Amino acid sequence: MKFTIATFSSLLTLVASHGIIVNPPARAPGPAFKEACGEQAYSVASKDPYGPIQLWQSVMENPTPACDFSSCKSLKLADSPAPLAWAPGSVVPIQIDIKARHTGYAKVEIIDLKTGLAKGKPLFYWEVYAGSTEAPPAANETDFSVTIPEVHGCEKAGDCALQWWVSAAETTQTYVSCVDFVQPKKVPGCMDKKGPGCKEEKPHGPHGPRRE
Ligand SMILES: *[C@@H]1O[C@H](CO)[C@@H](O)[C@H](O)[C@H]1NC(C)=O
Repeated sequence: MKFTIATFSSLLTLVASHGIIVNPPARAPGPAFKEACGEQAYSVASKDPYGPIQLWQSVMENPTPACDFSSCKSLKLADSPAPLAWAPGSVVPIQIDIKARHTGYAKVEIIDLKTGLAKGKPLFYWEVYAGSTEAPPAANETDFSVTIPEVHGCEKAGDCALQWWVSAAETTQTYVSCVDFVQPKKVPGCMDKKGPGCKEEKPHGPHGPRRE
């Protein structure tokens, strides 16, 4: 989209922010996002991390290839909480904060961060999500659990994320929020953390340090 003052201000009136994952803590805007997507996108994203992809995209001045909105709204691991370690079968409670409701559909899935593609079927799916005329909203729109399957290729930080994705037909906007995680490979021959195969990478805890 060509950027003009008119489109910018009409978009601003739509800045009805939508939502993000608040628990576990999700990817957030920071210096790495700013470097990839520019000052203006950073300013919009940091003022309203809940905002739609389309708004962030529309205010980019000089996008670099690193500014890729198809993956986690282009938010960067370097700006975000350390990945959580989830073994197959882990039940992960998730809380979403929705600030404005725009009817759409939504899903939660595991995505491969290199390709942006989903790994397997959605872990949670809503045919109608955040209906603006729905009262009261279904509790599972903002509070639900997913069971983590066995996944391959999610051993390292930055390989995979759990992504909440909402397509709101009502506003033609997309809302996305991502939580990074790793699933260390099961190492055969590693019993009680002793033995030759015990070289698994130590997972980071849920409250690990932010990366620089
Ligand atoms: C979410 O809750 C609604 C309303 O109770 C229910 O109809 C729907 O099946 C639930 N969705 C899932 C994926 O469990």
